[in-house]
Amino acid sequence: MSRIAVIGASGLLGQFVVDEAQRDGHEVLGTFRNIPAEFKGVKTEFMDITNCDQTESVLGHFEPDKVVLAAALTNVDLCEKNPSEAWNINAEGTLNVASFCKSIGAKLLYISTDYVFNGVKKERYSEWDNPDPLSIYAQTKLEGERITLDSSSTNLVCRVSTLYGWNRISKKKNFVTWVIESLRERKSVSLFSDQFVSPTYAPHCAHVLLKLLESDAHGIYHTSGPDCLSRYEIGLRIAEVFDLDRSLIKAISAKDSDLVARRPCCSCLDVEKTEKKLGFGMLSLIEGLKRMRQEESS
Ligand SMILES: NC(=O)c1ccc[n+]([C@@H]2O[C@H](COP(=O)([O-])OP(=O)(O)OC[C@H]3O[C@@H](n4cnc5c(N)ncnc54)[C@H](OP(=O)(O)O)[C@@H]3O)[C@@H](O)[C@H]2O)c1
Repeated sequence: MSRIAVIGASGLLGQFVVDEAQRDGHEVLGTFRNIPAEFKGVKTEFMDITNCDQTESVLGHFEPDKVVLAAALTNVDLCEKNPSEAWNINAEGTLNVASFCKSIGAKLLYISTDYVFNGVKKERYSEWDNPDPLSIYAQTKLEGERITLDSSSTNLVCRVSTLYGWNRISKKKNFVTWVIESLRERKSVSLFSDQFVSPTYAPHCAHVLLKLLESDAHGIYHTSGPDCLSRYEIGLRIAEVFDLDRSLIKAISAKDSDLVARRPCCSCLDVEKTEKKLGFGMLSLIEGLKRMRQEESS
């Protein structure tokens, strides 16, 4: 049993990491910034990672063996418009956490993103491919990766892509819940047919993260779902699993969009290294969607 601090427990992924760590019998501390997260049997605390003293004080009090850093400024367009805020949270904040972890010998698992790649490869990216971020968000996340890996050879960086699942802590939508909600309200949705990602079911990803954290894994691992699908294809699968009207889904090109930040046209991740390490497969989109549907009706 370890003492595990989950930073960003109020986020989509963080909440499932808390659940999973607790299920595995670890002693857990969850932290939040704006949205007070509550978990049965788990202590939660306010903590802003941009505040070095506060970070040291909250983590110092808990004395973790392991820290999962799932907190970030995750809105890609907001990061582009506010580069200094993005840098403060995603890079400087990571430095505060990583420095503290180093000082007490705690292992750090940092959550990163498929967006560190430029998409030019047009195939799944492996851990050995060179990053080339196209946006401020991706640049600052890559800096977070470097800080994590430079600070200890035992630290872990896990890259995920397009997280989805039911968010029970906040009303914040993710790609999948936004599509489900729109189709249920009979609103049409326009989805890119030329942007390819590896959708990642947050509860299963949390399970994978804990297994890696409990192993001797260090360095970079890709921990997304195994599929490589356009956002349009993802929309069609959502309609199929949730029995919704697929005629409301329109295919559009990312080239015609007015998004502020650039995104890679294909940032799919190769998950073979993780699957080999753990001895089980990552969860497909269809399976993840079926689990969501099941959870809703139970
Ligand atoms: N979402 C995706 O599709 C996606 C794709 C690739 C990679 N990722 C990465 O995966 C990780 C988890 O993403 P997510 O979607 O679960 O995130 P999310 O739902 O947007 O939650 C972000 C979390 O970060 C916390 N946070 C933000 N600023 C903070 C600060 N200054 N100090 C402390 N905590 C702070 C938030 O706290 P409050 O809410 O309480 O303010 C929240 O708990 C992130 O590192 C993200 O970069 C996400």
